[in-house]
Amino acid sequence: MSKTTINSIRARRVWDSRGHPTVEVEVSTAGGATGRAIAPAGASTGAGEAVDLRDGGAAFAGLDVQCAISGVRERIAPALIGMDAEDQAAIDGRMIEIDGTPNMASLGGNASIATSMATLHCAAAAHDLPLWRYLAGDRDPPHLPLPEVQIFGGGAHAERRVDIQDFMVVPVGADDYHQALEWVADVYRAAGALMSESGRRVGVADEGGFWPVFDTNEEAIEILVRAIEQSGRKPGQEIAISLDIAASEFNEDGRYSLSCDGIKLGTDAFSELILKWLRLYPIVAVEDPLAEDDLVGLAAFTSRAGSTVQVVADDAAVTSETRIRAAAAAGACNAFLMKPNQVGTVTGARAALEAAREVGWGAIISARSGETEDVTIVHMAVGWGIEQLKVGSFARSERMAKWNEGLRIADVAPCGAALPPADRFLWSAA
Ligand code: PGA
Ligand code: ZN
Repeated sequence: MSKTTINSIRARRVWDSRGHPTVEVEVSTAGGATGRAIAPAGASTGAGEAVDLRDGGAAFAGLDVQCAISGVRERIAPALIGMDAEDQAAIDGRMIEIDGTPNMASLGGNASIATSMATLHCAAAAHDLPLWRYLAGDRDPPHLPLPEVQIFGGGAHAERRVDIQDFMVVPVGADDYHQALEWVADVYRAAGALMSESGRRVGVADEGGFWPVFDTNEEAIEILVRAIEQSGRKPGQEIAISLDIAASEFNEDGRYSLSCDGIKLGTDAFSELILKWLRLYPIVAVEDPLAEDDLVGLAAFTSRAGSTVQVVADDAAVTSETRIRAAAAAGACNAFLMKPNQVGTVTGARAALEAAREVGWGAIISARSGETEDVTIVHMAVGWGIEQLKVGSFARSERMAKWNEGLRIADVAPCGAALPPADRFLWSAA
């Protein structure tokens, strides 16, 4: 038995930012190292995601995770104890084997991702290294990730008060990670003041962005531009806008039903509407602009918009190596949103990143709408050299824990608070 041999795996129920149960796993080695991780949970999930296993029944609206926890205790732990915590691929491969389904439907992607990430933390701890350093190996991390921050939260995160899900800012002109967060803080405050002045400040949505009390989807974009201006920054050059349309949420049989605007549009007309927004407003990225399975529509959209903006596949790629390759081959999208729990293992997330790099796509690592104090994705961003980070808004501790972890890493990483070079992004040339 070596120092990094796994000798104990514990699972417990903890609670996420929506007050829903979730899975925490703690992995320990013979040498005394321990790692811990918590599974996040989405609300606007892609159909191809690893299954988020819930108990159903009466307790906590069916959302309890006792079955996922029993799976860790009774099926995962006996199989992984005795394995080497450093052999992440073997650990993840073993879980996939025990699960036996294509989408972690038996163990639950929540059980597997918590175990997978806890093992990763444990291996880093066994080397007495911060996780970002363990992941970077001998290479120095090239930069901190560029933040993508929600200011208004709509869609499934705000009872569909508006149809578009995320109205975000990207501080593209910031000199470094510190300045990026300072600018975002100013925009968030300015947006709050604008909402107060117009009597529309009624609270925040699931990810801490202001509750979207707007008459139309487009009005949210207009107010966001105003918030950027009022914060003293130049829209477009210093702070740009990014939208997560999350279009599958309001698509039915190829028709997009914008209930806030009182219109229903076919694929072409809806694409035209988004393209119009791209012309009118300083938008640099648009996520899931069309339904997740409409590769033809997404390819047509990408051929028109993809040379100037990031077209991001979230539900359309679900952090799947295979889907990324298929979308790229079809000419659909040019970047993907990496959510490790969509694929259920660290190894799967890493494979998706490699695939994206091979096909020339950008990558944004992302939290979920249901989050906790877990900051694993920030370490992955730095350790794997991922260019962008999306974790929701600039409020509430499950969000701020991630931004703040970046500050801690910036203090000690050789790259300091450096951001990726702006010309790294397609859209900076626009
Ligand atoms: P989710 O939303 O975590 O609810 O899926 C985040 C996103 O769509 O990017
Ligand atoms: Zn999304």
